[in-house]
Amino acid sequence: MQELRQEEKAKLDRYLIDFDTDNLPCEFYDVVIIGSGIAGVYTALSTPRNAKVLIITKESIEINNSVLAQGGIAVSLDQNDSPSLHFKDTLYAGAGLCDETAVNALVTEAADNIATLCLYGVNFDRDDDKRLSLTREGAHSMNRIIHTGDATGKEVCDTLVSAVSGLDNVTIREQTFAIDILTEDGECKGVLTSNEDGTKLKAYFAPVVVCASGGYGRLYSKTTNPEVANGDGAAIAYRAGAELMDLEFVQFHPTVLFHPDNQNFLISEAVRGEGALLRNNKGELFMEQYHPMKELAPRDVVSRAIFQEMQKTGSNHVFLDITHKDKQYLEHRFPMIYKTCLSYGFDMSKDFIPVAPCQHYSMGGIKTDEWGRTTVRGFYAVGEAACNGIHGANRLASNSLLEGLVFGRRIGLQVKENLNQIKMREGFKPKISYKKQWKDTDIDVLSMISKLQSIMNLNVGIIRSKESLCTAMEAIDKMKNDVDGVKVVHTQFMELKNMLTLSSMVVKAGLLREESRGAHFRSDFPASDDKNWLKNIVFQGGFQNA
Ligand code: SIN
Repeated sequence: MQELRQEEKAKLDRYLIDFDTDNLPCEFYDVVIIGSGIAGVYTALSTPRNAKVLIITKESIEINNSVLAQGGIAVSLDQNDSPSLHFKDTLYAGAGLCDETAVNALVTEAADNIATLCLYGVNFDRDDDKRLSLTREGAHSMNRIIHTGDATGKEVCDTLVSAVSGLDNVTIREQTFAIDILTEDGECKGVLTSNEDGTKLKAYFAPVVVCASGGYGRLYSKTTNPEVANGDGAAIAYRAGAELMDLEFVQFHPTVLFHPDNQNFLISEAVRGEGALLRNNKGELFMEQYHPMKELAPRDVVSRAIFQEMQKTGSNHVFLDITHKDKQYLEHRFPMIYKTCLSYGFDMSKDFIPVAPCQHYSMGGIKTDEWGRTTVRGFYAVGEAACNGIHGANRLASNSLLEGLVFGRRIGLQVKENLNQIKMREGFKPKISYKKQWKDTDIDVLSMISKLQSIMNLNVGIIRSKESLCTAMEAIDKMKNDVDGVKVVHTQFMELKNMLTLSSMVVKAGLLREESRGAHFRSDFPASDDKNWLKNIVFQGGFQNA
């Protein structure tokens, strides 16, 4: 793997806040998991019942990105399908950048993990013969998406949270903000946390810490992600010296409702899987001009096609047309989407739905191997927070919940294998402290966050260029200077610092990748550079200005 490491050697602040573990309240666990989406909760369920596990989440347990997943989970169950076809489709969508070992694990372990979900009681839709119903999404060559109506993520998360809540070995702490992981001699020893307003610090010590805190969609104001998804996990990992990879690959979902009062509501790709067509503002079909798979082309292709069509016709949206299906069918197959569209005045059985692309998923994140191990000993990452290479430059639809399951279980298996060694460290309290001379400056955190999000929307979107990326970099650098060395007084300020750390690396990676590949499209380098290309752009943690 060709990797690029930054030359800048100025050290980043190791921690966001002063502390001394000698003076902090603390608790001891075998495993601490940061995040309560499918990846975090399934990892907890996959650890042995004699491991003492803690899940921390900065909001309440049901606030996460997995809950919002509509479409479903990809798994090759059809008699004409196979893990090798799923593998091939994943690699095709990933535009040459997937890690084949990790993808192989994903597709071959999919069915087993889905069987486990069924045992937990997840109520997937079934056909008349009681077999799991399979639908299609973009870039899949077969029908292989299992689903629960259009609220698959909620059904899976509700079931798993109820299972984990019944376990004696798992503790859940909500409204608990992970400030930083605690490290000693380059090894992870636990997590430093605070309560909601940042006033009460606490240390949770554990030899295994798993980051499942989600992606960095909230670097953009136009996103389908919930407010919690601002890339805290990647920033925490980076300060602790872990590597981050593929940050330039940000996925824009093609079809998000476009309405003056709502531009964040996803209209699942499964709607196109069930036959919906895309029309420009003149009512014309256009996808045939862009890709032979038309509406079901890879997601990056469809988003770019819509973007170009909007530019050509001078419109801020296109239309999704599923009027050939009747009301009864739509109300049953897509109950939430049907109801939500209706509440904005669109009856899907009669009206075209205005849609536009919007940020949806982060392919990049904390670099891991195919067992979820980061480059910091004892520290793991899973789900959208991680980057193990399965998505490459563009994630195949409905591979993300599956990723949380497959790699969550793999982390659980490792905890099982190493439990004796883990247990030997029970109650071990490292002495870690940090103190720095901070400035007391007033910062308008909320206005800085919204300024950053607009900069990212405008300059680091579906189509970028050196000029737009440099504009973003200049503005972000200025904001970083404004907050550098300023004492954090509440968690929102910590989030802002995390967002600035991460956005500057997203932009830097975008500048370094002088080609177009998958979700990263440079108008000044419109082709893939298969000769000189940088396979993965990796940032070594711990330094300023990556
Ligand atoms: C969707 O339902 O379109 C989203 C599914 C995904 O992000 O994989």
